Amino acid sequence: MFFNKNADIINRTFDTIIKKPLFRVVEAYKALRTNIMFSIPAEENRARKVLFTSANPGDGKTTVSVNTAITFAQADMRVVIVDADLRKPTTHKYFNMSAKKGLSGILSGQNTLEECLQTVPGVENLYLIASGILPPNPSELLSGKYVDRLFQKLEEMFDVIIVDTPPVTVVSDALSLCNRVDGVLVVASNNKTSYPELQEAIKNLEFADAKILGVVFNRAKARVSTRGKKYNDYYSSKEDLQLN
Ligand SMILES: Nc1ncnc2c1ncn2[C@@H]1O[C@H](COP(=O)(O)OP(=O)(O)OP(=O)(O)O)[C@@H](O)[C@H]1O
Ligand SMILES: [Mg+2]
Repeated sequence: MFFNKNADIINRTFDTIIKKPLFRVVEAYKALRTNIMFSIPAEENRARKVLFTSANPGDGKTTVSVNTAITFAQADMRVVIVDADLRKPTTHKYFNMSAKKGLSGILSGQNTLEECLQTVPGVENLYLIASGILPPNPSELLSGKYVDRLFQKLEEMFDVIIVDTPPVTVVSDALSLCNRVDGVLVVASNNKTSYPELQEAIKNLEFADAKILGVVFNRAKARVSTRGKKYNDYYSSKEDLQLN
């Protein structure tokens, strides 16, 4: 169904969550969904707003954002992914969609929300606001006056708002947004993110007054039982969520 030059990424996401769900991965995302629901109490007519970031490039922020959004949509919740990575956006590639009109257009006053809100084909209840054309001044746009206005509108329309951002120790874009959401999840990658890097990311976020919900442990290896059979990765707390 989804064929383009990024077919490998798209197929991986859809194979994982939609077409050939791997039990332990699906369960890990459901656990993440449940933890988000408990961490951000429900309020009438108010969407839960969650921002994903990480210490470094390539930790898996976008992969985890997209799969988390799909998992919420599968629970009959209306979900929008906002691609706030205005430097290296990739959310649209997961769904073979266009990024021409999107967040940068809305925040610079060039496009309306209606022009930029796209339905995601093949996933009911899921919408995307792609990056839009890459602007020269991402940090300024993301801290400008249009951001609150946009979130206010989205809160009336959706149950969950998932915000994908660039790495927090590299650029400050996520820091501009982190106190406009209900909570922040920091993605750490197995065999890639070092403890000092993770600490620095958390320190930066705390300095910006972010409410950190926890750390999502990406690329976790499935544990093997004594009988040599893989069993599910369970997490012991919201700080220790493990995703394969
Ligand atoms: N758990 C995983 N298993 C296998 N591949 C993964 C996993 N998580 C991420 N990847 C792959 O690693 C690459 C980087 O992931 P992704 O784009 O999600 O990272 P990112 O943190 O958003 O990167 P950037 O900082 O560039 O935005 C992608 O090719 C993605 O498909
Ligand atoms: Mg990304």
